[in-house]
Amino acid sequence: MADLHIFFLPFLAPGHMIPLVDLACIFARRGIKATVVTTTANVPLIQPTIDIVNAGDASLRHPIQLLPLYLPCSEVGIPEGHENLTAFPDPDASKLVAATDKLELSFSLLLQTHRPDCIVADLFYPWAIHVAKQFATSLISFHGSNCFVPTIMSILHGGELNQDEIETERPIEVPGIPSKIHLSLSQLPNFVLRPAEFQKKMRESYSRSHGIVMNSFYELERDYVDRAPNSSNRKLWFVGPVSLQNRDLDAKIVRGRGAASMDDDYFLSWLGTKTPRSVLYVCFGSLGRFTATQMREIARGLEATDRPFIWVVWHAGEPSDWLPEGFENRAISSGKGLMVQGWAPQLLILNHEAVGGFVTHCGWNSCLEAITAGVPVITWPLFADQFLNEKLLVDVHRMGIAIGAKLCSLKPEERTPVKGEQLTKAVDELMGNGEEAEERRKRARALGETARRAVEEGGSSYENMTRLIQELISLKAVGGSSEFTEAS
Ligand SMILES: *[C@@H]1O[C@H](CO)[C@@H](O)[C@H](O)[C@H]1NC(C)=O
Ligand SMILES: *[C@@H]1O[C@H](CO)[C@@H](O)[C@H](O)[C@H]1NC(C)=O
Ligand SMILES: *[C@@H]1O[C@H](CO)[C@@H](O)[C@H](O)[C@H]1NC(C)=O
Repeated sequence: MADLHIFFLPFLAPGHMIPLVDLACIFARRGIKATVVTTTANVPLIQPTIDIVNAGDASLRHPIQLLPLYLPCSEVGIPEGHENLTAFPDPDASKLVAATDKLELSFSLLLQTHRPDCIVADLFYPWAIHVAKQFATSLISFHGSNCFVPTIMSILHGGELNQDEIETERPIEVPGIPSKIHLSLSQLPNFVLRPAEFQKKMRESYSRSHGIVMNSFYELERDYVDRAPNSSNRKLWFVGPVSLQNRDLDAKIVRGRGAASMDDDYFLSWLGTKTPRSVLYVCFGSLGRFTATQMREIARGLEATDRPFIWVVWHAGEPSDWLPEGFENRAISSGKGLMVQGWAPQLLILNHEAVGGFVTHCGWNSCLEAITAGVPVITWPLFADQFLNEKLLVDVHRMGIAIGAKLCSLKPEERTPVKGEQLTKAVDELMGNGEEAEERRKRARALGETARRAVEEGGSSYENMTRLIQELISLKAVGGSSEFTEAS
């Protein structure tokens, strides 16, 4: 095999970075020379994973490299060292985007020195297409989401979006797809309804790249692939779930990328005392924020179920300000539940036999992790594409119960409040013994099996990856070309 060298450029948010670094590791383990490029402050987060893969896989032909870029924080008014989206949960993250726009020059200097054959860049770097063209390198866009989301969005755009209805919660049926899906325009993110300059640039880059790799698998979205925007002249490679593919080394990889308040062994021994499928896992991702009132309702809802739970919390301030009085004594010290501040080892928890349900914000990584673990979900989407992911889990694959969130917004105070009773009811329904609950569990388990088969040798994701590698090798042979043409 010709030596292929690929640069990977992940966006600066855990939800984007973790899967793209996983993908770089998978390429490396299939004989490709992989180099991850990130900003200085993010190097320590990625290095441990790379070290483990480099040391752990004796068959690696090329060790994975990590190259740092300087992110000009102070130029755009970002405090030094805050090189991630977590620091800027404003709706368009405009400061961080302004800073990452300035990476173009230093990134092109790296290209000049290293001359990779291909760049796999997050869709959030719309300038990647310009540098790829400048160096006659192929650009593959990395889409941290799935194919279902852009398909539904383009169907909605194809129809006339009635601007008057954007704020309303009246559900409309999405036409022309095999599953019945209702959504209201208030469940769609602003960038879909009123695309800004950044989204337009992103779309341009997307349509000029050589193709798109998705952290998803074909069987999950079979009915939506051909309906994806420009599917006839757009190459889509389904290579996920990427988190499943470094499994042999997985236990050693710290996916939290930050200090958890408890170590893995603590979770394992706590879970070990619970009966199979009895524990509820509750986590809203690293950007999920709530009002203090909503936090109290979640606590009340969890306390009122008779299920043990693990609740991952990112709320600032004194717990007494956002927990019902006495909650910690009654629900935590009693041994009923665990409350974790910050990162929790989600894959480890979801894949433990004691876990039987997952309350999720429907970020795509969490959706995939629920799917691969075969755990049914309660969906509580908050912002971005999360409401659309909810439809894929609840309406297409019928492995979840929607809590009933109606308004897509990064601002906690704008969202529909959910009562503790609603949560308790959904948990009892999800984890109870009824026939419907049993069928839902079976569907979730079956989908998990399908995901695992997809990444095994001969599976759809494995083979998509093989074809992608072959294609990049033949592109290299003809001198590389990044722009899609009708003839290719
Ligand atoms: C991410 O942002 C937080 C501030 O919210 C900061 O404390 C942390 O150091 C940042 N991490 C990196 C890798 O930039
Ligand atoms: C689809 O293709 C058309 C023309 O080929 C292009 O203008 C448009 O931007 C493409 N859309 C996407 C989402 O790639
Ligand atoms: C990915 O796999 C699916 C299912 O096997 C296949 O239909 C599709 O053509 C593959 N895509 C590419 C780009 O090879």
